[in-house]
Amino acid sequence: PEFDLVIRNGRVATASDVFDSDVGIAGGQVVALARGLGPGAKEIDARGKLVLPGGVDSHTHIEEPRGGPTRNADTFASGSASAAVGGTTTVIGFARQERGGSIAQGVAEHMARAAQSRIDYSFHMIFTDPRPEIMEQEVPKLVEAGHRSFKIFLTYAGARITDDQALEVLAAARRLGALVCIHAEHHDLIEFHTRALLKAGLTWPKYHAWAKPMVVERECVHRVCAMAEALDVPIQVFHVSGAESAEEIERAQARGLKVWGETCTQYLVLTAEDLDRPGFEGAKYVCSPAPRSKADQAALWDHISRGVIQNVTSDHAPTRYAGADGKSAFGESAPFTQIPNGLPGLAARMPILFSEGVAKGRIDLPTFVSITATHAAKLFGLHPRKGTIAVGSDADIAIWDPARKVTITQALLQDANDHTPFEGIEVTGWPETTLVRGVPVVEQGKVVGAPGHGQFLPRGPYAMIKPRGVFPGGFNPVDGVPA
Ligand code: URP
Ligand code: ZN
Ligand code: ZN
Ligand code: ZN
Repeated sequence: PEFDLVIRNGRVATASDVFDSDVGIAGGQVVALARGLGPGAKEIDARGKLVLPGGVDSHTHIEEPRGGPTRNADTFASGSASAAVGGTTTVIGFARQERGGSIAQGVAEHMARAAQSRIDYSFHMIFTDPRPEIMEQEVPKLVEAGHRSFKIFLTYAGARITDDQALEVLAAARRLGALVCIHAEHHDLIEFHTRALLKAGLTWPKYHAWAKPMVVERECVHRVCAMAEALDVPIQVFHVSGAESAEEIERAQARGLKVWGETCTQYLVLTAEDLDRPGFEGAKYVCSPAPRSKADQAALWDHISRGVIQNVTSDHAPTRYAGADGKSAFGESAPFTQIPNGLPGLAARMPILFSEGVAKGRIDLPTFVSITATHAAKLFGLHPRKGTIAVGSDADIAIWDPARKVTITQALLQDANDHTPFEGIEVTGWPETTLVRGVPVVEQGKVVGAPGHGQFLPRGPYAMIKPRGVFPGGFNPVDGVPA
């Protein structure tokens, strides 16, 4: 046969085009796009189905050690299975530096864990302690080895760095050619609210949202955009949760800055009211930033449809709710400050975005492909190998039934968590078969890909994150020379 695999009679969608075509695959790559292709050793009939680029989820916490007593529920084997169940074929996770420790060691540990991934992967390096010897001696070699993005937190006691340190990380990224992703919330303002709430006895999960109202995020998004502007460094702001911070991203873009905003599935379908569900159920919705309002959801869709927010990730951060007795493992009356932050969402991401976005007419199909795959691949230096269906691209493909109606349940998602915040949501459209480099990882909803099939994706220099060469003061403070 001419091909290893032919996907026949489907409708292919990319971030720019939708067209009827067979897909010919050989050596793990797409090698032909046309109707009436010759025979394949294997064939899949995709009549009535969409043939989509596999998702690129660029914000995932899989098998990542947590600071406290709770554990990340997933291993790379379970997390990557769940991702593929939802049509995702590439995940970018995090390699973390422990305070006082080495980032090189953090990267080595995460690489060892990720060896069990069923889908392809890369890492952002988290700096919790960006002291000069780390940034000067360890980081250049790691960037050279393909770890071309950094993550910094401006809040969380165990992870946050100061603005001073953030500026040093931004400067290092500019010198080395890496993209900085930022968790932007005003730490001291959160702490001030939190102390007052605890003192007033307001400890229930819903007060998590009271501890970090939108102003906390909006101020910090503005601040990091200003730092990025002053040092002329491209950034991506993580988890933009609603209107006011989306506005900050839009203003930065209007000034010509390379500032990109990411939002996550949860901010499009959950609200702060979910934190106030009966009993201790609200604990299952504690994430940062906090879920906002219906108006914020609408504002996010508006900014997505206008291309201001171009990437929607899961921020998958799974913690099991139940201990051995079935009750909350972190206590049925624990104050919100003791509930681990973050929601699981790898598998639910693409179905919810397809259903809420395409099926409900908020965005078109190319925009769906862009926000779930293509833009993230471009932004993180993986395109055109990942994030599209084109001759020469990896055959990472989700074969999608656009008409199938599914009610989301935890069991369907096949991660290692014990609940989903999206339980009971009805979606139209579901991925049936997911291929990674031409090999089925999920077939008709069943996980068939082996742990270890996934490959590390080193990322080389790329044009999209090249600094603009524009400094507000006419002086380049990163290199200490006139601009
Ligand atoms: O609440 C969240 N988002 N937890 C995961 C870690 C992070 O902040 O991205
Ligand atoms: Zn974050
Ligand atoms: Zn706006
Ligand atoms: Zn995160």
